[in-house]
Amino acid sequence: MGGRALGLRLRLTLINALFSSAIVAVLGLVFHETLRYTLRQNTEAFLDEEWAVVKSYLRVEKGRPVWFYDRDDPEETATVLRLRQGLLLLADRQGRVLEVSDAYSQIGAEKPSEIREILASGKPSVRQRHDADDFTYLIRSGIHIDDDRRQFFLSIGRPLESDELVLSQFTRRYLSLAPVLLLALGAASWWAAGRALNPLRTFAAAAQSITGDSLNVRVERRGANDELDGVIDAFNNMVDRLENSFNQIRRFSTDVSHELRTPLTAIRGQLEVALMTSDSKERYRDAMVSAVEDVDRLAQVVRALLHLSQAESGQVAVAHDPLDLARLAGGIAEQFQFPAEAEGLALETRLSPATLAGDKIHIERLLSNLLSNSIKYTPAGGHITLSVVPNDGEVHLIVEDTGRGIPAEHLPHIFDRFYRVPDGHRDPERGLGIGLSFVAWIAKAHSARISVDSEPGKGTRFTVSFAAASQPAATPARALES
Ligand SMILES: Nc1ncnc2c1ncn2[C@@H]1O[C@H](COP(=O)(O)OP(=O)(O)O)[C@@H](O)[C@H]1O
Ligand SMILES: [Mg+2]
Repeated sequence: MGGRALGLRLRLTLINALFSSAIVAVLGLVFHETLRYTLRQNTEAFLDEEWAVVKSYLRVEKGRPVWFYDRDDPEETATVLRLRQGLLLLADRQGRVLEVSDAYSQIGAEKPSEIREILASGKPSVRQRHDADDFTYLIRSGIHIDDDRRQFFLSIGRPLESDELVLSQFTRRYLSLAPVLLLALGAASWWAAGRALNPLRTFAAAAQSITGDSLNVRVERRGANDELDGVIDAFNNMVDRLENSFNQIRRFSTDVSHELRTPLTAIRGQLEVALMTSDSKERYRDAMVSAVEDVDRLAQVVRALLHLSQAESGQVAVAHDPLDLARLAGGIAEQFQFPAEAEGLALETRLSPATLAGDKIHIERLLSNLLSNSIKYTPAGGHITLSVVPNDGEVHLIVEDTGRGIPAEHLPHIFDRFYRVPDGHRDPERGLGIGLSFVAWIAKAHSARISVDSEPGKGTRFTVSFAAASQPAATPARALES
């Protein structure tokens, strides 16, 4: 676990470092180019000024250069000296050199063809040139016109050595600083990644501590309402669901053991009695008969459980065929007419035409369970009504009786497995307490709601509400026949 968290941290840091390096490199390039551009602009501006100064002092008279200045003014004298000792070249149109400074001759005068080209272009030319020692200079050349309006080639320049020094110094400093910067950024992102992942590690530890026996533990939200809190919520919800299922399974195994123990104890008792009374054939037989009954009951419990667990684990397919509910309910009511009369009960139907998409067998099973409960829990002389009531996009299936009712405190549990409302005297026909679990499952498989209204001593009403199907049931042929 720790190893994996470290892996994520390392990866985050590396990604960060990669981006930082790219940014540092791009920044360096941008600085370098900006600096180079500024230096070049500066030098060009300087040469423009120098150009104007040279032109104000230099004339050409009869093909010879003449410097005009006040020889008594020490400042002007110094300026002209500086100009003549700097980079300076004056040539005529044919490329004959009229004046050249020592420094300029190191670079070499332009070829006559080049001079003609620049003069012909009519624009000053600014370019780099190198001397014999490979030092670089920025040269500005252009036209100089004398008093007779004749054109001459004038060229001045400035060494770029100091500019290049500044640039290379910048590069050297930046390159030596970049690794330090990157290291600092890397360390910072390592720290930040660690901080960001810390809650994740806490969460992992908390999640790790939850086991089947401590499912009530929840991971605490940090209150930041961020992605991690979202994960914690999802995780806690998952544990909620797990806890529910765990509890259900636990309750279920307890219920099953209880359920099986009672008939097993009974069978054992009966068999013991049979062993001790084997002299009397009659009593022997009686014991055997009731043992067989209890074994039957055991088998019934096991079968019902198997069926229910298959249904609840999704192994039972549920069809969604269009069903004519009034017709289906009518058929079931007919089947229950005889058992109801046998118990002294009146079974009545109120069936409005209604259609729903569902599974015929399952809906029939749901109805039989509700009707047999009503018959079982309604004393002789009572009424049972089965209704189909379409209403507002829904179809309500209602089973109502005038039976003994269900006390309010038991209502929330009647759909639980094996749950039976305790009754003072023994039920004439003991149920398994599983019928309503099936009803609940079938309703859920059809996305239907169940509600129960009951008043002890007065009666009970079960209402199952389905969504009505949009198209009518596909049984028109037979409907026409009848
Ligand atoms: N129509 C009803 N009137 C009164 N009590 C009912 C009715 N239907 C169900 N019950 C109560 O709900 C309990 C659970 O029903 P069910 O799951 O069908 O189990 P069973 O019928 O096997 O006892 C029953 O034991 C009974 O106490
Ligand atoms: Mg029942």
